[in-house]
Order: sequence, then structure tokens, then C-alpha cells
Amino acid sequence: MFHDMKNVRMEKVRKVSMSKLIVNGGNRLSGEVSIGGAKNSTVALIPAAILADTPVRFDSVPDILDVHNLMLILKSMNVSSTFKGDILTIDPTNIIEAPLPSKAIKSLRASYYFMGALLGRFQRAVVIFPGGDNIGPRPIDQHIKAFKALGAEVSEVDGTVTIKTGPDGLHGAQIFLDIVSVGATINTILASVKAPGTTIIGNAAKEPEIIDIATFLNNMGANIRGAGTDVIRIEGVPTLQAKNTHTIIPDRIEAGTYLSLAAAMGDGVLITNIIPEHLESFVAKLEEMGCDLTVYEDSVYVGPSHNLKPIQIKVMPYPGFATDLQQPITPLLFKADGQSMIIDTVYPQRIKHISQLNKLGGNIKSKDTEEGIIVVNKSPHLTGAKVDAGEIRAGASLLIAGLMANGTTEIAHAENIMRGYGSLVNKLTGLGADVKLKIEDEERV
Ligand code: EPU
Repeated sequence: MFHDMKNVRMEKVRKVSMSKLIVNGGNRLSGEVSIGGAKNSTVALIPAAILADTPVRFDSVPDILDVHNLMLILKSMNVSSTFKGDILTIDPTNIIEAPLPSKAIKSLRASYYFMGALLGRFQRAVVIFPGGDNIGPRPIDQHIKAFKALGAEVSEVDGTVTIKTGPDGLHGAQIFLDIVSVGATINTILASVKAPGTTIIGNAAKEPEIIDIATFLNNMGANIRGAGTDVIRIEGVPTLQAKNTHTIIPDRIEAGTYLSLAAAMGDGVLITNIIPEHLESFVAKLEEMGCDLTVYEDSVYVGPSHNLKPIQIKVMPYPGFATDLQQPITPLLFKADGQSMIIDTVYPQRIKHISQLNKLGGNIKSKDTEEGIIVVNKSPHLTGAKVDAGEIRAGASLLIAGLMANGTTEIAHAENIMRGYGSLVNKLTGLGADVKLKIEDEERV
């Protein structure tokens, strides 16, 4: 069955468990595309909602598979949710403690946020160790260290993490993270936001998504200061009550992906609903390559690119160049006149895309998986082929390369891409791309 623009609402009510993207490459792209709410905010905000003593409402929610899986997890704890347009309403007032559905939990790594959120709500949590993208080892030792510092006991048997507290529950604590971790920073906030006393997170991650979570919680009465810096201070409060709708920040990774594809194949593309400050390191690299960009207050115009130069990219925690964008920028590097190099210090083994891009005629190799060094050579002749989207951003890079290639590219496991790119087919078709989604297996949610 082919899924076209008119059927896009189907993504809302059905969970696609296997799909293929069929890309007929070569079309020049033009027009306007609007960026949705940030996936990595949304997947933390939904678990955070269970900390509230009132219903909560989110605006600008991206229509992505992760949202549907999180709604299933909420349902298992008797938390009702409705998703209409881009508004998600969650009512946690009748929440119960119940086993969480393992398939949904394993479908996204961010389900680890239920550890912090359940701990904050019930002073205990039992959560299966989450799955997620295949981008190399992804330990959660820093999350566990923080839960322990807040007064919890943590044990793990056969992949199930059990977190308990004594009769006094959690208490504020001083925590210094050994590694800058987005997940550990947010999980510590979720666990401590209602814990009596003061919690101080040192060496905290500074991603905009962390500020978004803190803003949501503060608007409900939390007392979190310093989000966006490397020291976050939390004074525990007894209750959180939503008084207004929280609008989710735009997705800087989705934006970067469209910037990359517009620079690669565009004849003038305006990308709207962007916070340019969140993309400074990415935009700087595109400009260094010689891309034609005009940055406005909340949008970026990308003109056609000519004579692109090779670049060196070092992936770093925010505000550095995002690991989530090293794969989406790679097809653009194929157009540069010479050899580019990427060093991914955050996920050195994030290399699923390499063998697949080479199938399309890319000349790219992983030089050192300890150091995360990837060498990208000029590859002017890409040709359609059958490839596999092993994970979300690998899939995004294959999609861009498929749009650049001559002929048809079939991307298997496109559901990995749909995890993070809302209304993908719609948006690409709107720019003039020839892309179809072929659903191979789906279930009703
Ligand atoms: N790390 C540890 N121990 C921990 C936690 C992290 O060693 O307890 C290491 C990781 O292995 C990694 C580094 O610290 O080398 C940073 O990991 P971080 O915890 O920041 O990653 P995450 O929170 O699991 C989020 C995003 C990822 C994104 C990374 C880095 C979400 C749901 N996921 O993951 O997004 O790549 O931060 O920015 O927010 C994606 O969207 O494609 C994606 C994978």
C-alpha cells in the first residue's frame, strides 16, 4: 500500500512497525518547509507530564512514532492522552503504578525518562532497560549515580531496573556528572523536582531541550535555575500544577536535516520555525563550505550551492556540532571539492550509514571507531540502490543521498526515520521531491 499526502493522517492513528521509503532522486527542491516541535524535548516532556497533579497540554507536538509509543506507555499506567492536530493533552490525575509495556518501552531509548519521572511521582520505579538507536554503547551509569545520590537504591536483574527509596523517600543532593549527558541531566531533574531540599547538578548538559523541560516544570511551580548552563539548581516543591499550554521548541535536528538537503538539492528553500541560535555551530559549518544561507529571526533561506569546499567537523556536546547532525550533513560533503573529515567524540561508533551510503556510490570510510573518525571524499555520482536505515539519523542521511542520486533508492526500515521526522513525505513532496512511503506492517494503536 502506498502512503501519499492525503493519507498522512494515518500516521496519527496507526503505529507503523515496518516501512520502506521509495525515493526517486534527482528532482531539484524549492519552496517552504516548516519545522515541527523537538523530538528530544517531546520524549522527555511526555514522561515529565506524570509529575503533574493536573492535566497538561502540549502544543507543537511532532507527529512521530515515538509520541505514539509514549502514549501507549502512559495508557498502561491509566494516564489518558489525546493527540489532535499538534496538541497533545495528558491527564495523569488517575495514574496508577503498573507494569510498563515492554515492546513500547524498548522501541525508544528515551523511555528511560520514566525512571526519573516515576521516581519523582511514587518514590520508586520499575522500568525495563530501554532500547533505542543502534549508535554504539549507551550506558546509563550517570542516571543511576544521580538516583542513588538522591537517596534511592537501584538494582538491575535481567534488564529490568528497580529503583526504591526508604521511608523518607528522596532528598536533594549535590551531583557532579562524570560525563556531559543530556539523559542523565533530565532524569536527575525529573527525579529531584519534587524531592525536599536542594539538588545541584554539576557538569550538566546545556542542550536547548533541557531548558525546554525546565521551562515546562517551572511554569507548573517547580524551582529549577540554571538550565542551559553547566550548573543546575533545583529546590524541591511538593506539587506541580499546569496552568497553561506548553509550546515545544522547534526541532534543531530536523531543521539541520532540511538545511542539509536544501543545500544539497535546493534551488531556493525557506525553512521556517527555526531558532537560529540553536543551530549556530551547524550553520557556521555550512557557511564554511560556501553554502548560500540567509539567516532571519526564525527562519533560514538556503540558495542553490556551487563550488562547495571540504570541511573538518568535530562533534561535541551542545553548543558544539551535534552528533545527531553528523550523518545528515554527510551527503552534502559528497559535493565538496576534496576530502572532509568528521570526528564524533560523543558517539564514535555512530557509523551505520557508512556502508549504506557507499552502496549509493558514496566514497566514505570509518577510519577509527575508537576515536570516531570518518573520512568523506568527493562523490559526484550517486546512483539509486536498496539500502537500510539502521537508525534514525543514518536513515536521514540515506534519504538525502537518495534525493541526490540518479534513479530509485529504496530505504528499508524507514520506520526508524519516522521516529523523528514528522509529516516527512508531506514536507518533502511539498518541496518537489518524489518520495513515497510503503507500509509493510502496521498495527492499530
Ligand atoms: N553516557 C555515559 N553514561 C551515561 C549517560 C551517557 O557514558 O550514564 C555517554 C554516552 O554513551 C555518550 C555521551 O555520554 O557517549 C552522551 O550521551 P547522552 O546521555 O547525552 O545521550 P542521550 O541522552 O542518551 C540524547 C539524545 C540523542 C543524542 C544525544 C547526544 C534524546 C532522547 N536523545 O541521548 O539523540 O544523540 O543526547 O546529544 O534526547 C537522536 O535524536 O538521533 C539521538 C540519538
